[in-house]
Amino acid sequence: MTSGYHFFLGLAFMSLCVMQTVSTLDVYIVYLGLKDVQDPILTSKYHLRLLSGVFQRKEDAKQSMVYSYKHSFSGFSAKINSTQAATLAGMEEVISVFKSRILRLHTTRSWDFMGLNLNPAGDQSKPLQLTHGDNTVVGLFDTGIWPESKSFHEEPNMHPIPRTWKGKCVCGQNFNPKTACNLKLVGARYYLNGYEQEHGPLNTNETSEYRSPRDANGHGTHTASIAVGSTVKTAGFFGFGQGTARGGAPRARLAVYKVCWEDGKCSEADILAAFDEAIKDGVNVISASFGSPPPQLPFYNSSTDIGSFHAMQEGISVIFSAGNNGPDPSLVQNVAPWSTCVGASSIDRNFPTRVLLDNSLSFMGESFNTKHIEARLVGARKYFRGGICKTDRWRNKSAVGDVILCFSTQGPVAIEEAEVASWIANATGLIFANSPTRQYVDVDIIPTIRIDMTQGAKLNSYLSQSIKNQAKVCIFPSKTVIKQSPAPVVADFSSRGPSSISPDILKPDISAPGISILAAWPPGISPTSTEIDQRSVEWNFQSGTSMSCPHVSGVVALIKSVHPGWSPAAIKSALMTTAYNKDKNHDTVLSGGTNEECTPFDIGAGHLNPLKAMDPGLVYDTKTDDYILFLCNNGYTKDQIKKIINLNPGTTINCPKQRATNAHLNYPSITVSSLQSTITIKRTVRNVSAKKITVYIASIVSPHGVEVTVWPRILFFTYLSDEHSYYVTLKPQKMSRGRYDYGEIVWFDGFYTVKSPLVVCVDTAATDDDDDAIDGSLQALDELKQV
Ligand SMILES: *[C@@H]1O[C@H](CO)[C@@H](O)[C@H](O)[C@H]1NC(C)=O
Ligand SMILES: *[C@@H]1O[C@H](CO)[C@@H](O)[C@H](O)[C@H]1NC(C)=O
Ligand SMILES: *[C@@H]1O[C@H](CO)[C@@H](O)[C@H](O)[C@H]1NC(C)=O
Ligand SMILES: *[C@@H]1O[C@H](CO)[C@@H](O)[C@H](O)[C@H]1NC(C)=O
Ligand SMILES: *[C@@H]1O[C@H](CO)[C@@H](O)[C@H](O)[C@H]1NC(C)=O
Ligand SMILES: *[C@@H]1O[C@H](CO)[C@@H](O)[C@H](O)[C@H]1NC(C)=O
Repeated sequence: MTSGYHFFLGLAFMSLCVMQTVSTLDVYIVYLGLKDVQDPILTSKYHLRLLSGVFQRKEDAKQSMVYSYKHSFSGFSAKINSTQAATLAGMEEVISVFKSRILRLHTTRSWDFMGLNLNPAGDQSKPLQLTHGDNTVVGLFDTGIWPESKSFHEEPNMHPIPRTWKGKCVCGQNFNPKTACNLKLVGARYYLNGYEQEHGPLNTNETSEYRSPRDANGHGTHTASIAVGSTVKTAGFFGFGQGTARGGAPRARLAVYKVCWEDGKCSEADILAAFDEAIKDGVNVISASFGSPPPQLPFYNSSTDIGSFHAMQEGISVIFSAGNNGPDPSLVQNVAPWSTCVGASSIDRNFPTRVLLDNSLSFMGESFNTKHIEARLVGARKYFRGGICKTDRWRNKSAVGDVILCFSTQGPVAIEEAEVASWIANATGLIFANSPTRQYVDVDIIPTIRIDMTQGAKLNSYLSQSIKNQAKVCIFPSKTVIKQSPAPVVADFSSRGPSSISPDILKPDISAPGISILAAWPPGISPTSTEIDQRSVEWNFQSGTSMSCPHVSGVVALIKSVHPGWSPAAIKSALMTTAYNKDKNHDTVLSGGTNEECTPFDIGAGHLNPLKAMDPGLVYDTKTDDYILFLCNNGYTKDQIKKIINLNPGTTINCPKQRATNAHLNYPSITVSSLQSTITIKRTVRNVSAKKITVYIASIVSPHGVEVTVWPRILFFTYLSDEHSYYVTLKPQKMSRGRYDYGEIVWFDGFYTVKSPLVVCVDTAATDDDDDAIDGSLQALDELKQV
């Protein structure tokens, strides 16, 4: 009776709460396009005036304002209800209004899903790397920085900070600009308003978070050192991957914009604020390893697309990670044509680990195992019901002294789950059998050896034949071995194209190393980011497109340093047309997850080739007209486009009457997602080589079922004509639907190879509303349906 009464009271209380929050407030971003006036103070006042239009009192409007974006473009974010958002969206000066989402970091490992009390919270050396970069600043949008790491010490003889740099290091908890910042780390800011509006005040007592640019996660320190880390001779993780560590551009400057907080959550309102200030500060490159899994929102409803658009207009290259949602198709993120989207692939380094059973059966697995382990190997069934290595299947028996053999397919279980389950059982170690296409080494909470299913099957049958289903096992310390093949291989987790919102722009653009990458790490955070792990390290291995993105950012910083005048589009073109898709054995790069030859949807134009990208011969530059076409295709009106694009006075905007395909953008790859009849696409290339006279000849690999003609087939460049257009005509030659085929167009002058992927989906087969084309069998099928 009494409990029923309490229950009732509780309900009443709940409904009261619900009553009060009927009008839910969310953080919305209101985007207004380019700034009307230069003065940021006036711009802010204007924002407040607009916002006051949906409040009775100006005071309330002030209260609800989260940010005013006033330096590099115009917009604001505010905590308002849906009615107010709709009213704002209806205003003439407003381009779009959208809810601020929480984006996520693109790392692969996540330990927190176990409910355990875990922390809630390349290439060979190039002289160019060591001589260039001083004049570029890379802005890193991430979880902040551990400034004491050796990766952020000054390189020898660094020049003074470029005069164009207007950014600064701000004070904050455990972050003193006087000691943290130097000629290397030239900027450090943090953005918290949006995060706190969503999650309440940051609790720095119970978590290790800092209300400052200091990194409490490790991710930001890791990515920053991949992009621009200084040369450090003594890198390594317990002896693995030992050697000299350096970022892509060790002499480039680093500016940190902390926008991601506990659990790797990054609020869009904060991200847009970082874009607003970073552009004003004068960064040359922005590197951002986060995103939101599909559904992808339209470009004008995404802070990363809006921010990167304005950055691009100021000549700043923005590099994003593609996401870790592979290998299924169409899950790629960050797909705007004005930014660069990076997939992940492996490098040629392995960590083989020898395992010996009963002094007779020996095989190799992969691990970061430091110890010589002698123990007993047992099957998972002994400790886990059904042989499923999960904590909730544990039989409450101590596994001290045992190494457990687990299979990913039993459950199925993720390797992290099996590790946590084995750790709870106090096992000495874990041997984890997984599909070979999903293998990569990572740092573990207990000694864990990865093997493939074939080895797993052998082990399993060995165990079942042995007495008591157990064997004596000896595990040797892992070794670091380089020059392994096949390499590179596209990571199974790397998000694949086509882009779900603009399939005629190939994404990802390019691929770079993102598996088992060694880089700087805050010593206060354990290498597995879990509390049960007591180790402190200065270097750590991480995997994800989060790690491949800063590889490209570093190379872009170098290109920018050597060619300061190149536009972001020209730099992207240089990256893409020089990328390779043959592996070290001259075979087509494999796609992890399927183990088939990769396609441009896996690898983009190919794998990053830093040296070649410095000197590509020709570039495809994307110009204002291209972006106008793109915005037209995305449903913007002429008036809106004028508000977004910096146009030369007198420029007229002509949106095509019929929606043209985005394949017409002067992009370094060509993708036609629906080829119904013959189309002709124009591309324009510009000479950027030092050669006095050059003659390029085109060669074509046609996609299956498509006749491709390129005209002209020969391009002459002289000092009088440094830009030429050519036309690609695509004619479907088969009945097909929904199937992509791949080819390429290559321009070659005897020295430079300028290669573009050609991706076509022939779409000629009958459709429901296209009666003429229905062939006999389809008609028969239709009749059947009608019956
Ligand atoms: C939204 O807020 C405004 C101003 O506070 C208020 O007048 C309006 O009723 C609210 N709308 C809803 C749906 O709660
Ligand atoms: C995008 O924003 C507009 C308002 O500007 C909104 O009406 C629309 O629903 C949003 N679209 C999506 C898919 O979120
Ligand atoms: C954190 O600790 C300080 C001092 O110990 C205390 O004043 C403050 O209220 C605490 N904050 C939270 C969110 O618990
Ligand atoms: C394991 O122990 C926990 C608590 O000690 C208990 O709640 C649970 O029922 C036990 N499980 C089994 C399978 O014995
Ligand atoms: C595992 O080891 C810890 C520490 O030695 C001990 O407290 C715990 O009871 C052990 N658990 C089992 C299941 O043996
Ligand atoms: C190509 O352009 C470069 C400068 O970008 C110039 O030095 C070179 O002479 C040009 N070559 C031709 C053939 O136009």
